[in-house]
Amino acid sequence: MNVLIVGSGGREHAIAYCAAKSEKADKIYCTPGNAGIAEYAQCAPIGAMEFDKIVSFAKEKEIDLVIVGMDDPLVGGLVDELEAAGIRTFGPRKNAAILEGSKAFSKDLMKKYHIPTAAYENFTDADKALAYLKTAKFPIVLKADGLALGKGVLICNTLKEAKEGVKTIMQDKKFGDAGNEMVIEEFMTGREVSVLSFVDGNTIKTMTSAQDHKRAGDGDTGLNTGGMGTFSPSPFYTKEVEDFCNKYIYQATVEAMKAEGRPFKGVIFFGLMLTEEGPKVLEYNARFGDPEAQVVLPRMKNDIIEVAEACIDGTLDQVDLQFEDNAAVCVVLASEGYPVTYDKGLPITGLDEFKKHEGYYCFHAGTKYDGERLVTNGGRVLGVTAKGKDLKEARANAYAATEWVKFDNKYMRHDIGKAIDEA
Ligand code: AMP
Ligand code: GLY
Repeated sequence: MNVLIVGSGGREHAIAYCAAKSEKADKIYCTPGNAGIAEYAQCAPIGAMEFDKIVSFAKEKEIDLVIVGMDDPLVGGLVDELEAAGIRTFGPRKNAAILEGSKAFSKDLMKKYHIPTAAYENFTDADKALAYLKTAKFPIVLKADGLALGKGVLICNTLKEAKEGVKTIMQDKKFGDAGNEMVIEEFMTGREVSVLSFVDGNTIKTMTSAQDHKRAGDGDTGLNTGGMGTFSPSPFYTKEVEDFCNKYIYQATVEAMKAEGRPFKGVIFFGLMLTEEGPKVLEYNARFGDPEAQVVLPRMKNDIIEVAEACIDGTLDQVDLQFEDNAAVCVVLASEGYPVTYDKGLPITGLDEFKKHEGYYCFHAGTKYDGERLVTNGGRVLGVTAKGKDLKEARANAYAATEWVKFDNKYMRHDIGKAIDEA
């Protein structure tokens, strides 16, 4: 069959890698893709929000299955448009992708269906938000309602900071229309765990757990980023935590979406915080996480195309989802200056090494070809992933592999997976 993947990051590279292993996939396409994805897929320069062009392209190439990797097109309704054109698509429709697209929606959903999450209030009026803050406990968390590239969350330690935050989100509209509404929520403490799951509308099957590192600098300092590295599984995601989440969070979310007339098919990403009172949902995403996908998907034993089709067909209950009994660590190689300003177009070398070593992967995020030369083309450039028999070995392997890669201004965190030592 012909498969089209929509997106251009390390996550889509990991999806393309899995799709290429599938016996079901004959030809793989990607819009727009990147230099690494081009190894497995024919890439076409169509933006992920150019819905008409994607639909025409899918028809022209006789695509049998589309996998939408990114949040923006999912929230914008790309799945609905492809389905209307008769094209089978893996991912939630617009009315279900709102689970990620509106934090106010997801908070109200959790409250209504008693799914554990931080206490909160939603606001569409800046003055009311400011009045509420006067009686609030600090630190407190402000969240722009809509998509904001993972940057619309502000943790405020004082009333002064929170007032500035309300101005930033609702009045200055730093995150655009995403700030038309805002969630103000209780600050929680604990370890974070990302659990991705496949969902077919009724059945949910969770994948192996992972943990992201969102801040730019070592020791969780500096600005928030799209993610600087991940490890999988999380040693803190114990059987007890999993049992709790099975009972109160995962299926409950699927049932809640169904009850709201918004059946969810695709991937639900549960951002969890393991608090002293038990696991609570920090956020939902309606897609694979990035860079979580880069450590989770290489460990998946199943054929990704078969699982995606089972989600579409409502037969996920018949899938025996399995992961390798090992570990993986991904270290993101960024350009110095990310996430603020950084150079692009810097030549990259050393990637041939990954072909020589089994269990090592170099997923591309911001790369392109400048003629024959591979060059940097974004803040996050590559995701260097390695497997190992356990987390410690995987971490040592991943950091050793970062040495193979050379480009000017190469920047990475040196403490990805440090928490493993505390487990
Ligand atoms: P989100 O996009 O909602 O996952 O938020 C981004 C990051 O902000 C999370 O990964 C947490 O590190 C932090 N965060 C979000 N909500 C809270 C909260 N209620 N308490 C503490 N930290 C939070
Ligand atoms: N790694 C977090 C995300 O994909 O949103």
